[in-house]
Amino acid sequence: MLVGRDGERDHVERSLGQASSGRSAALVVRGEAGIGKSALLDHAVATAQGMRVLRGVGIESEAELAFGALHLLLYPYLDRLDLLPGPQAAALRGAFGLSSDAATTPFLVGAATLTLLAELAAEKPLLCVVDDAQWLDRGSSDALLFAARRFQADPVVMLFAVRDTAVPFHTPGIEELRLPGLSPDAAAGLLDHHSPGLTAPMRARVLEEANGNPLALLELGAARLAAQREGRAEPAHQVGPLPVTRRVQETFREQIVGLPETCQSILLVAAADRFAGMDTVLCVARAVGADTSDLDAAERAGLISVADGELTFRHPLVRAAAYQCATHHQRIAVHRAFAEASPARTSSTAGHGTSLRPPPSRTRRWPPSSNAPRYGQNAVAGPWPCPPRTTAPGD
Ligand SMILES: Nc1ncnc2c1ncn2[C@@H]1O[C@H](COP(=O)(O)OP(=O)(O)OP(=O)(O)O)[C@@H](O)[C@H]1O
Ligand SMILES: [Mg+2]
Repeated sequence: MLVGRDGERDHVERSLGQASSGRSAALVVRGEAGIGKSALLDHAVATAQGMRVLRGVGIESEAELAFGALHLLLYPYLDRLDLLPGPQAAALRGAFGLSSDAATTPFLVGAATLTLLAELAAEKPLLCVVDDAQWLDRGSSDALLFAARRFQADPVVMLFAVRDTAVPFHTPGIEELRLPGLSPDAAAGLLDHHSPGLTAPMRARVLEEANGNPLALLELGAARLAAQREGRAEPAHQVGPLPVTRRVQETFREQIVGLPETCQSILLVAAADRFAGMDTVLCVARAVGADTSDLDAAERAGLISVADGELTFRHPLVRAAAYQCATHHQRIAVHRAFAEASPARTSSTAGHGTSLRPPPSRTRRWPPSSNAPRYGQNAVAGPWPCPPRTTAPGD
């Protein structure tokens, strides 16, 4: 249930209303981590009465897989490909590996996406929601933005959520809605609902530190409430210019440093390579003296979940915190273990070899070239494209 955000809700609901009167709308919701972009998209989905909803998402670890996100979004409707003009259908089939037609032009994939979505909208008004668009692979983002810019008299609403990152994700020609922090009243309401019983000074402090960021209100509030109940001293945070995501990350760091050392080690391993499968993580973890069972404490603390052989951090900031909690020496050891565990893969893709070299000059452009893989866009700590470092997400 959304607290506050009256203006933003109205904005989104107006866009949905346009579709019911047969017109299209496209909106990019932007803001820092935890500010409530996904929550607003969820609200749109919940209020999209009578609309067909397509949900897509940029997945950080798939940002290099050409057309992966588009495939995820359109997969249920591939049986409609025959409705498309031949070259467009062929382009999408080629993009999705359904034919040996590999020479796919971005224009044709964009045009095919536009036509397919318009066909669907002709059956029923369409809401297409794409979360974490900053992690879309290039082919998918080009096609979806191409389509979003061209709908006119189609009952289609396209909503994108884009997190502010060090490398901006541009969406020219599409209306933007920037999410600020919650209003003071809404922030206080959210905090009081989730962390009732904070002392007045502590409550005031959380409100000040969170600066209206809902994730910060939830996480800082919960951490302070737990500290208060257990009679622990309040963590000494500096109030001032520290970005709010850093504060949330510090909260995660406090939780991580309270875990057993071997648990911290395996978290560091998992955090150090976002592309590593569970097998590799365990293999590297063993090399640094940890094992599967060491994950239990982190799972119990709710910092990670493990399902279907995949380890997921509760939030990208947990991953960043796990990486940054470690010393430089520990990080080097983990990257070296990765490089030894899988030399071919790590030198070419994950950057563990790179990370053993001294950091690049601070003035060097990062990522190094426009051809560089885009998965570093979120700038959450990690070995590629970043060398071992201690800066925070968004720096
Ligand atoms: N207006 C709101 N009222 C109540 N809870 C909210 C509100 N906005 C966000 N939240 C909650 O705050 C947390 C962070 O919000 P959300 O996940 O939407 O952020 P985000 O901007 O999508 O972050 P990220 O960039 O990490 O994806 C979630 O638990 C969400 O449910
Ligand atoms: Mg989100």
